[in-house]
Amino acid sequence: MKLEPQAARLQRDLDTLAEIGRDPSGGMTRLALTPEDARARAYVREAMLAQGLSISHDEVGNLIGRRAGKTNLLPCVMTGSHLDSVPRGGRYDGPLGVVGALEALRALDEAGFEGTRPIDLVVFTGEEGSRFPRGTIGSAALSGDIPAESIHALVDKGGVSFRDALIFYGDEGAPRPAAQPKGSVDAFVELHIEQGGVLESKGIDVAAVTTVAGLVQHVVRIVGDSNHAGATPMDLRQDALCAAAEVVLAVEAAARELGAVATVGRIDVEPGAFNIIPGAATLWIDARATTDDTLDRLDLRIRQTIAEVSSRRGLRAEVSARQRVTPGPLDERVISAVERAAAASGLTSLRMPSGAIHDALHMASFCPSGMIFVPSQGGKSHCPEEDTPLPQMLKGVTVLAATLAELAG
Ligand code: HGY
Ligand code: MN
Ligand code: MN
Repeated sequence: MKLEPQAARLQRDLDTLAEIGRDPSGGMTRLALTPEDARARAYVREAMLAQGLSISHDEVGNLIGRRAGKTNLLPCVMTGSHLDSVPRGGRYDGPLGVVGALEALRALDEAGFEGTRPIDLVVFTGEEGSRFPRGTIGSAALSGDIPAESIHALVDKGGVSFRDALIFYGDEGAPRPAAQPKGSVDAFVELHIEQGGVLESKGIDVAAVTTVAGLVQHVVRIVGDSNHAGATPMDLRQDALCAAAEVVLAVEAAARELGAVATVGRIDVEPGAFNIIPGAATLWIDARATTDDTLDRLDLRIRQTIAEVSSRRGLRAEVSARQRVTPGPLDERVISAVERAAAASGLTSLRMPSGAIHDALHMASFCPSGMIFVPSQGGKSHCPEEDTPLPQMLKGVTVLAATLAELAG
C-alpha cells in the first residue's frame, strides 16, 4: 500500500492553525477554552467533517472524529493530540498530532485502505496546563484517570471555572461521557515533535517513544519579613527572595545529581520595589523523571531543601502540590508497530524516552499506547523558535499512517 500524504495540505492546515492565537510578541498563545482555542478546534472540526469522519464530543470538550472500519463493533484505534499552547509557545507542539493525523487519514483513504477497526482522531482539551491548575486534562478524563466533575471544578487564575469556560466551544449538542469504557480502545498512538535535540543530532527520521516522563509540580510560597532596604542591617533581615534563590539553585543541583530535570519557571516577589526587602517569594517548581522512584526521590529532596533553607533563615514556607503525573512505559506492540512502519517507509528510527509530558501518558494507563517523534530544529520547543522542516513532519505523518494501518488491521 503506497501511502502519500500531501505536503501542501499539511502545510495549509498547520499555517491556518498558526494564525489562530498568534501572539503579537512572538509565538503562539492559545490557552485552553479561550476563543482562539475554540476557533482552532472549529477549524479541525470542519476538516474532520470534510474528511467524512463522524463527529462526537465529550463532557470535557474532547473532540472525536471517527473513520469507520469494516466493523464499528470492534474496539477502535485512536490517535490525536492537543491544540492548546503554552504562552508564546511554538506552532507545532500539539497541532502536528492533530492535523498530521488528519493528513494520515487522508493518505489512508487515497490508498484505498479499509481498516477492520474504526480509527478515532481525538483533539484533547487543555493539555498544557497553562490556564487551569493542571495539564493533560482531556486525556486524563478520557482515560478515567480524573473524573469529569473534578475537571469541571478547576478554576483558572481569573476565577473562571472549567465548566463555565466550556461555553467557548459553542453548542455542539449533548456531550458523551468523557471516561470511555475500558477496552473500548485497542491501541493509541500520538504523533508529536520531539521538543529536544536527539533526532536532529543523530540525523534520524523518527523516534518510537518507549516511556514518557512523569512530573510533580509545586507552588511554594516563602514568607519572610518586609523591611526597609536601607535601614535594615544584613544580619537582621528575613529576605524571602534570598531564601528562594538558595532553593532555586538547590533544585537545579538535586536534578543534576539524580539524573532528572527540574525547573523553577517563575518567581513572584512581594511587595516588589527597589527599597523594600522582599517579604514573600512564590516559586513555581516543575520536576520530572522517567521513573517513579527517581521522581519520588527528587520530590523529597526538593521538599527537604525548602524546609532546611526556611528554618535556617527563620522564614516560613507553604508548599502546595499542583499536580503529579506518574511516569509510564509505552506499549511494546505499538512501539514495534512504529518501528515497522518507519522501516516499511524506508525511514530510520530509534527508541527513546520522552522528557516532555503528553496525552499518550494518560492513554498508556488506559490502553496499549505509543508515540512517534519527529525532530525539533535546534532541539527548541515551548518558544517562538520551535520549528521542524515540513519534509520531516511529512515523514512522521507517513509513519503514523502506516502505524494506524497495521493497528487497525
Ligand atoms: O509540559 C509538558 O511537558 C507538555 O508540553 N505539556
Ligand atoms: Mn507542550
Ligand atoms: Mn504537546
